[in-house]
Amino acid sequence: MLVSEHDGAVAVIRLDNPPVNGLSHHVRETIFAGIEAALGNPEIKAIVLTGAGKIFCGGADLRQFNTPAASAEPSLQLLTERMEASAKPIIAAIDGVAYGGGFELALACHYRVVSPRAQVALPEVKLGLIPGCGGTQRLPRLIGVAPALQMIVGGDPVDAAKAVQLGIADDLIEGDFLAGALAFAERMTAVTAPHPIDIERTAMIADSQDFFSTARAKAAKEKRGFPAPLECIACVEAAVNLPRQEGLAFERQRFIALLNGTESKALRHLFFAEREAAKITGLSSPQETRPITRVGVLGAGTMGAGIAMCFANADIPVTLMEVQQEALDRGLALIRKNYATTVSKGKLSQEKMEHRLGLIEGTLKYEAFSSADLVIEAVFEDMKVKKEVFGRLDQVCKAGAILASNTSRLDINEIAGSTSRPGDVIGLHFFSPANVMRLLEVVRGAKTADDVVATAMQLAKSINKIGVLVGVCDGFVGNRMLTPYSREANFLIEEGASVLQVDQALYDFGMAMGPFAMADMAGLDIGRAARLRQAATRPAHLRYSRVADQICDMGRFGQKTSAGFYRYETSSRIPIPDPEIEALIERCAREDNIQRGPVSSEEIVQRTIYALINEGARILEEEIAQRSSDIDTVYVNGYGFPAYRGGPMFYADSIGLDKVYARICEFHRRHGEYWEPAPLLERLAKEGKRFSSI
Ligand code: NAI
Repeated sequence: MLVSEHDGAVAVIRLDNPPVNGLSHHVRETIFAGIEAALGNPEIKAIVLTGAGKIFCGGADLRQFNTPAASAEPSLQLLTERMEASAKPIIAAIDGVAYGGGFELALACHYRVVSPRAQVALPEVKLGLIPGCGGTQRLPRLIGVAPALQMIVGGDPVDAAKAVQLGIADDLIEGDFLAGALAFAERMTAVTAPHPIDIERTAMIADSQDFFSTARAKAAKEKRGFPAPLECIACVEAAVNLPRQEGLAFERQRFIALLNGTESKALRHLFFAEREAAKITGLSSPQETRPITRVGVLGAGTMGAGIAMCFANADIPVTLMEVQQEALDRGLALIRKNYATTVSKGKLSQEKMEHRLGLIEGTLKYEAFSSADLVIEAVFEDMKVKKEVFGRLDQVCKAGAILASNTSRLDINEIAGSTSRPGDVIGLHFFSPANVMRLLEVVRGAKTADDVVATAMQLAKSINKIGVLVGVCDGFVGNRMLTPYSREANFLIEEGASVLQVDQALYDFGMAMGPFAMADMAGLDIGRAARLRQAATRPAHLRYSRVADQICDMGRFGQKTSAGFYRYETSSRIPIPDPEIEALIERCAREDNIQRGPVSSEEIVQRTIYALINEGARILEEEIAQRSSDIDTVYVNGYGFPAYRGGPMFYADSIGLDKVYARICEFHRRHGEYWEPAPLLERLAKEGKRFSSI
């Protein structure tokens, strides 16, 4: 609901549509009517537009996109044009956030005043869109091309002080905000000169040609494959080159094209997927969570050090344990070095760094975990070691403490079985670097208590991670899917593609890096350990690529030994194709009677990505993942899958499951039982359904 109030010569229109004062059809209608009424009332000299609660306006309702309600009149276009044309000054009084369409509404006002907690942003680019209602035309005219472009292409919020500095806000009001806004409006009634909206204020840039091509090159590099940033630039360029009305029309046309395109749908899918992932299915009742105020981390290696930082960053004290002083010192030094790098980049103050370091305490004794509410184990990936460690934790940890493992693949149920309290045991699978990567697979064991699951999911949020609940199997969701993906990549190089060609095809598809560059980065010994473990259960008649094992036998473990699938110059991470490896691949193929020939990029992408999809379908059917969008969340946030393709399951849906299924059947005929179509995929394809429909 929205109320219109009068205060002397100033009409106040208040957006009131909880929770974010979203621009629903009703809200637009009421603002429009409020403005008409104020314009028709000779006693009213100015209009203040403000928001109820602690927010101005969060923008359009995402769920209304692509629905008739979104375009029903008065549209936001009509409303903003009406406001802009008003002879009486309209003042946006921004207390709290003004995002997206909410900020565009404010930009169509003649003046803007802000409270100290105000924040303004045009975040549409993050959902694969551009501001669709004048944002790209009005903001450059208001504050100049360069800062406007930065806000529109970056999508990040600007606070009140910065808004004043940039010229977005005309005044910063401390104290009674509404009184201050009304006083400002009163002053504006006395202004005889035209109100600023009438003035073309675009600060033209000296050499616009160069400016925009530089911006395009930067966006293409930093946002490779994303169309929206380039469209943002095109619209701001139109603001410079075209009259206002033509610029607005251009922006509208580009907005609609993006709105109907796959990329924006994919990004919106991921936006909702991330929120959905936090919901836990199958809990007996709403669960009380256990308080987590002190955490223990076991193992100060690559993962343990990063995990300790995650908690210190969230102001939670951590005890970090190692078996030997030397390893502990190395871990603590790694943490200090990581923080120091952040400080040197100006992203953390020295004072905060010291505070965080002060929260991490090193120890060599299990007894130091006696008061911990949660202990996360990150020792070697070896079941025997893990069981021993959990047996010790069982002895020293207090009743009710949660015992978690960061294992990437091992059986959480078996680990839990080495304690007397399997209900308190859970998997917390962080990704490397743990202090940076936002994904956290929360692995629910067969006996994990419901409140432990609920606590872990809530904890994920409090340490700024995206928690995705998964079940127990070799590799959970992410690493399990990685297995057939890597398998196909290895088969493809035996069949005639070069290492570089496979990586390039998948990089061009949008992956952050190709599978071989990734394997070299992670360390080839990690994959080998997993293959050795799987060897016992791998049927002997199935094809197996020995290439990676033989590379390991040469002492090449990837970047850390400056050689793996590629070679690396000393202290460089740039992969250089290595003829020695190509020769090794040819030899392996010859020995295994594999026919070599040209392999197309299309084949590379389909063989690897469809392998992900087929495995994803099995994971879904086995209920290892709660929903297909969770698999997408895992793959985009943990494995470098291009966000603008929405994740492997959304990508499959967007191609059509019938087509994906048909191709997988063809691979099955050509390459045998690895490619047996997942029953769920087959069923959905035949019923004309999508993964997202189940
Ligand atoms: P790492 O080898 O860097 O570190 C392991 C640390 O554990 C070493 O510092 C070692 O001294 C210590 N340690 C061994 N036994 C111990 C014990 N009984 N008590 C205390 N400390 C002990 O290994 P990393 O890479 O950190 O992996 C640790 C775990 O995290 C493994 O289970 C691994 O599968 C998992 N993981 C690894 C990822 C990665 O990218 N490296 C990603 C996700 C999970």
